[in-house]
Amino acid sequence: MLLHTIAEVREKVKEWKREGLTVGLVPTMGALHNGHLSLIKKSVEKCDRTVVSVFVNPIQFCPGEDLDKYPRTLDEDEKLCNAAGVDIVFAPSPTEMYPDAQMLSNDFLTYVIPPFFYTNKLCGKFRVGHFDGVCTVVNKLFNIVQPDFAFFGEKDRQQLIILKKMVKDLNIPVEVIPCPIVREESGLALSSRNKYLSGEDKVQALALSKILFNIKACYNKGIKDVKALTETAYSYLNENHSLEYLEFRDADNLEEKKIADDNTIVFIALKIGDVRLIDNIALA
Ligand code: PAJ
Repeated sequence: MLLHTIAEVREKVKEWKREGLTVGLVPTMGALHNGHLSLIKKSVEKCDRTVVSVFVNPIQFCPGEDLDKYPRTLDEDEKLCNAAGVDIVFAPSPTEMYPDAQMLSNDFLTYVIPPFFYTNKLCGKFRVGHFDGVCTVVNKLFNIVQPDFAFFGEKDRQQLIILKKMVKDLNIPVEVIPCPIVREESGLALSSRNKYLSGEDKVQALALSKILFNIKACYNKGIKDVKALTETAYSYLNENHSLEYLEFRDADNLEEKKIADDNTIVFIALKIGDVRLIDNIALA
C-alpha cells in the first residue's frame, strides 16, 4: 500500500498496534537495490508488519550536493516493496515532512543534533550538518511510525553508529537492527549513487573494496600497526581517485585507533570524478 501522508500512516499503524502486531521500519531514500532489499527482507521476516519509507530528505544534503539529481524511481520501488511483502510504502512529499517552507532553514526547524565527537570526522567532516539532517528525519520517522524495530545498513556505518547513539541518549523505544553490507560479486558495495558511474568508473570504484579486503587480510596475518596497514592502500590508488579519508576507528564510539584490534572498523571515502563513494569493513 502506497501512502503519502503522515495521518494515513498513523491511522494504519494504530490499527496494527491495537491488534498487538510488531512493526518494522526501513528508512530509505528510494532507488531501491538489493542492499535496501536485504534490510526489507530482514524486517519482513522479523516483524508482523513492515513500513518502508522512501524520502529524499532535503535537510541532509549539503549545498552543492546531488539533491536535485538524486535518482527517484518510486514506481519501481513500490513494485519491489510489494514483491518483498512490505505492508506500507510511505513516500511523503517534502512539504508533508517539512510543511512550512521556512522549516528547511536551520533557523526555523527543531533539529536533533548528534554529538560533535561523532560528527566531526569521516563523512561528517566533509558533509557538515549532514548527520543533523539524518538524525532529525529519522527521529521524525520514528515518531510517525513508532516502530518496534528499525533496520539500517552497515554500508553507512557512521550513520548507524550515530543513530544507535541517538536512540540510546534520547531513550527512543525502538531497537536498531544493523544489517551487513551487500556487495556485487566484484566486491563493489551496492549504492544508489553507483548509477552515476560509467563503465570505466565502475572499474576504478573497485579500489575501495580491494583496499579494505587487503587491509583485513594483512590484519589477519598479524599486522596491527595502523600506519603500516594504511600504506598497503596506496598501490590500489591512481590518478582517477581522489582519496577523502582512510581511517581506523572504534566500532562503538569512532575513536581513532593507532593499533588495530577486533573492535576496529576501517572507513574509506573516495571520489571518482564527481561521484563520492564510501565503504567500510570490520576487522573482527
Ligand atoms: P539510503 O542511502 O537510501 O539507505 C537506506 C538504508 O539502506 C541505509 O540504512 C543504508 O545503510 C542501507 N544500505 C544502502 N546500501 C546498502 C548495501 N549495499 N548493503 C546494506 N545496506 C545498504 O541512508 C539513507 O538512505 C538515509 O540517510 C536515511 C537513513 C533514509 C535518512 O534519510
